[in-house]
Amino acid sequence: MSRTNPPPRRRRGALFTAGVLAATALGTGGLMQGTASAAAFACSVNYSANDWGSGFTANVTINNVGDTATTNWTLAYAYSGNQRLQSGWNGTWSQSGQNVTVRDAGWNARIAAGSSVTASANFNYSGTNAAPTSFSVNGIACNGNPGGPGDPGGPGDPGTPGDRVDNPYVGADVYVNPEWSARAAAEPGGNRIANQPTGVWMDRIAAINGVNGGMGLRDHLDEAVDQAGGDDLVFQVVIYNLPGRDCAALASNGELGPTEINRYKTEYIDVIADILADPAYADLRIVTVIEIDSLPNLVTNISPRATATPQCDTMLANGNYVEGVSYALSELGAVPNVYNYIDAGHYGWIGWDDNFGPSADLFYQTATHGQATVDDVHGFIVNTANYGPTTEPYYTINDSVNGTSVRQSSWVDWNRYVDNQSFAQGFRQELVGNGFRSGIGMLIDTSRNGWGGSDRPSGPGPRTDVNAYVDGSRLDGRLNTGNWCNQSGAGLGARPTAAPASGIDAYVWIKPPGESDGSSSAIPNDEGKGFDRMCDPTYQGNPRNNNHPSGALANAPISGHWFSAQFQQLMTNAYPPL
Ligand code: BGC
Repeated sequence: MSRTNPPPRRRRGALFTAGVLAATALGTGGLMQGTASAAAFACSVNYSANDWGSGFTANVTINNVGDTATTNWTLAYAYSGNQRLQSGWNGTWSQSGQNVTVRDAGWNARIAAGSSVTASANFNYSGTNAAPTSFSVNGIACNGNPGGPGDPGGPGDPGTPGDRVDNPYVGADVYVNPEWSARAAAEPGGNRIANQPTGVWMDRIAAINGVNGGMGLRDHLDEAVDQAGGDDLVFQVVIYNLPGRDCAALASNGELGPTEINRYKTEYIDVIADILADPAYADLRIVTVIEIDSLPNLVTNISPRATATPQCDTMLANGNYVEGVSYALSELGAVPNVYNYIDAGHYGWIGWDDNFGPSADLFYQTATHGQATVDDVHGFIVNTANYGPTTEPYYTINDSVNGTSVRQSSWVDWNRYVDNQSFAQGFRQELVGNGFRSGIGMLIDTSRNGWGGSDRPSGPGPRTDVNAYVDGSRLDGRLNTGNWCNQSGAGLGARPTAAPASGIDAYVWIKPPGESDGSSSAIPNDEGKGFDRMCDPTYQGNPRNNNHPSGALANAPISGHWFSAQFQQLMTNAYPPL
């Protein structure tokens, strides 16, 4: 059943409620419309600060909660400390003493009823950095009560039951999928990891009710309520069924053709959203991982780049990835205990300058498209189902050898990042700078990025030349960071962990270890899955992996199916070892 009236939207961060500015309604011919009710501009303001100790970025969102547009705006507020304006954007910022004034930037002067604009600025300060408590727009107070209904908690606000917490993984267990757990436990030695939490994948419409007699979404959620036993529990579900899915690869092509956006909405997202909104599941912390690889593909695998594919060109042109992801965000984000995390590729993909900024832009456009807002985004996930290390302990991007930067090595090849954690932290800043909430958190899929075993370096490589140094230092054992299918030599990575590092909400196992990435030769199937030669160990590559051999294991089944030999290799090469 589709839901046409989503429940009232919730907002994260301080919300300041409305003042009302009455305006005169003039009809055609300038006659006063005496009987018409007066149109009104009314405002609320969201304020957030991304604070790094000696300075911060302030993001101020003006919401027009009245019923008429305003055609210009001047926002005023005051700090109580020594905050000093450095530079601002999306408005003309000025400061006099503790008073801050922001005028519209011209292009964003009009705020339609129901719309918002955000302006941001960097400040320096010392001592304390209390958030301002009152705001006005065009002299009209937007004063309110931070911590009021719908506010999940600014500093010092304990929130109300059911409110989203900052990091859902803190203080919570994570759901163990009994179906994966049974498969893992059936493998020799598998009981060492069978109790680990892994993602539950909704990889086709039929998965919602369960495929081949397996558990459906409600079965998993009921089981999750049991596992929670009254305590806090995170349930991780992967939303993965876009029209034209997997446009740069074939192994995870899905059931919906490029134009089937309506089926995606009504037969997939609406159905999932209705189930997640069931009050029986209201106490779970439901983490959604939204549409792996889709938006990054629209940045990197499009014409005129050498890496373009016709399918990604199609999905960029028809807009259905953006439409689908924004719809998923708004519909799932309307469920108060859902935490949406958007897939953001990985360091060896989005880490280059020409992909980094444009990806953050596209994420912001998508998160503000349709009914979605940045409040629907709790964070981002990197390295989903991929193999890039969390950290590279033996070299950094700042190293050089004989005066040559590691950025010039064949492996790094001018990337700005050498591992996923530094990438996730850097990209988080970029996303916040693009207008995402300052409280967003990152997840890293560490299911298969351990690279232990006998080939693992135990220290930095020789400083004879930059390539010897990087190749001797790096844990990432792939032939190229563009390789993604059933990688030979890979091991299980860090076990799932809450809040492991600054800006990182958790290490998670979203890809269930032992489930194939794609078949190593063509295998007919009824799941829409294609054969991608990146899963064929004899393949010599294409522009998307810079023409390197695939590094894939032989004898692999189609994606999602159990691949015992891979599972065994992952355990053998686990790091930390099992
Ligand atoms: C497949 C999905 C599967 C998932 C988890 C993806 O590559 O396309 O069908 O559910 O991996 O293994």
